[in-house]
Amino acid sequence: MCGIVGYSGKRDAVKILLSGLSKLEYRGYDSAGIAVCGDSGAVEIRKSKGRLTELEKKLGDGVITGHVGIGHTRWATHGEPSDVNSHPHKSGMVTLVHNGIIENYVKLRDKLKTRGKSFASDTDTEVVAALIDRYYIGDAVEAIFTAAAMLRGSYALAVMFDDRPGEVYAIRKDSPLVVGKGADEIIIASDIPAFLSETRDYYLLDENEIAVVKDGGVKFYDYVKGFHEKELMTATWDVEAAEKGGYPHFMLKEMHEQPATLRDTVFPRISESGKILENELKDTSFIKQIRIVGCGSAMHAGLLGKAFIEKYARVPVTVDIASEFRYSSPVFNEGDVIVLISQSGETADSLAVTKLAKEKGIKTIGIVNVVGSSIARAVDNVVYTNAGPEIAVATTKAYTAQVAVLYLLGLRLAKDRGTIDDARYGEIVAAMRAIPEKAAEVLTHEDEYKRLASIYQGAHDMFFIGRGQDSALCCEGSLKLKEISYMHSEAYAAGELKHGTISLITEGVPVVAVATTEAMLEKTVSNVKEVSARGAAVIFVSQLEAEGGFYKEKIVLPTLDEAVMPILAIIPMQLFAYYVAIARGCDVDKPRNLAKSVTVE
Ligand code: G6P
Repeated sequence: MCGIVGYSGKRDAVKILLSGLSKLEYRGYDSAGIAVCGDSGAVEIRKSKGRLTELEKKLGDGVITGHVGIGHTRWATHGEPSDVNSHPHKSGMVTLVHNGIIENYVKLRDKLKTRGKSFASDTDTEVVAALIDRYYIGDAVEAIFTAAAMLRGSYALAVMFDDRPGEVYAIRKDSPLVVGKGADEIIIASDIPAFLSETRDYYLLDENEIAVVKDGGVKFYDYVKGFHEKELMTATWDVEAAEKGGYPHFMLKEMHEQPATLRDTVFPRISESGKILENELKDTSFIKQIRIVGCGSAMHAGLLGKAFIEKYARVPVTVDIASEFRYSSPVFNEGDVIVLISQSGETADSLAVTKLAKEKGIKTIGIVNVVGSSIARAVDNVVYTNAGPEIAVATTKAYTAQVAVLYLLGLRLAKDRGTIDDARYGEIVAAMRAIPEKAAEVLTHEDEYKRLASIYQGAHDMFFIGRGQDSALCCEGSLKLKEISYMHSEAYAAGELKHGTISLITEGVPVVAVATTEAMLEKTVSNVKEVSARGAAVIFVSQLEAEGGFYKEKIVLPTLDEAVMPILAIIPMQLFAYYVAIARGCDVDKPRNLAKSVTVE
């Protein structure tokens, strides 16, 4: 997601900002911009949709010069990628860049409007600039603290004030920011690679601590300690590794990002009063039947969505693969809504279904990760998954974000239709809010999943079985394994095994058996006993207690409401697939023959 660079020193700020931003390109972005305090003291802004080269074109022949500035690469979340939505944003005396998501920006914007503020962009960031400006009466630190206290969500900010040439202020909460220290210069950045070629010395900015950068030096301030000293750290990373945030592969990094991405998916969508998806879906009364369509993992997310929506909202749901659906002469009824799920928003078959829907006059909702992508633009309503850029071909964090959005949609429909009582609604909402923390807990057992991977990496075939929501989950667990490790793998509804597949179970064949619901536990266990009696090596994945003896290994999931447990249960399977692939020497980030975005049919 977005990248921030800030500079104060003696050198050409434009050069340093552009070089820093280029080092943050790996984070993914769709627009870029810089603001530089010129030698005359005026703040000059240049920004552009597209790559850094587009911005460079706008900068022309170096008309903007100065020794202090801020820069940004934006990965759109609020408002499409465009020149006007790009950062920096300016309001009154304040110019700033921002990473993160402000959950209460609509409310704040409405209030600021009543106080005469106007807004040029659709972003949550411009609201932050206006808020700081509103409280700025000469004391920059005070104004930033006052505004920050009113923000809900995550932010990293680099701020400049018109009447404070030569100064840059930075603050962060739940979004990274580090402060590089060179000889007579300071470089603020989202990540160390942005300044690694200039200096290895840096400070880690704490939550809600302000860095005051002036004349190439920095001071730190927080409410409790006032101005204080900080420990200077030294980076030992090489540039290449640092671009993956220290992880050997993007896939591993993206799996580890899930607590944060799930927070960004879920939290902004639940208001303080417990209302869900208010901004994205004004009305749901027109929805009589949902037709979920997607490809690959997006379709698998749809299977979990079906189980949840039908159970809690009592709305019938069909799930189809886009390449089949578009040619299947689908029968539509009044009140049908097509829900398109796509990480990239560019998958050719899924995009074709949005066109088909238009032709037939069917309403569409998109669950999309990439803001401003073709599907996001083509659908009637879009709910962004806010998972940030996903670089590894095999999706992990975008998939869990898709499932989370489908659960939110199911809850919203259940509430609107009165098919869920307040107590149960409250329980599931609380469980959704607990997901980030519980996902972090699952990740702490990584060594265990790695150990299992080392035992089973040599297998020829592997099976994933479960019932109900677990059957849907197994489809994704199995796909993850086969796509990156090239091990043959199949997912089966546990109750269907006896109709054929059980003939493939022989001594030592690994079977992952998933049971996350009380209601299906006994039935699943009896199917698992059938395979273990035929020699299968069973890895049982569950948070539930079941009499032992039928499994060889158990992956114990944390306690959480079973309605949302699949979001946690997939994480060990993702990591298991990753470590099997590593053990088999596969290129996990770029598996053979596969593409991240399939833009042809
Ligand atoms: C490719 C990717 C998968 C993804 C699928 C659908 O096959 O490798 O990870 O699930 O496309 O892509 P989409 O961008 O539409 O979600």
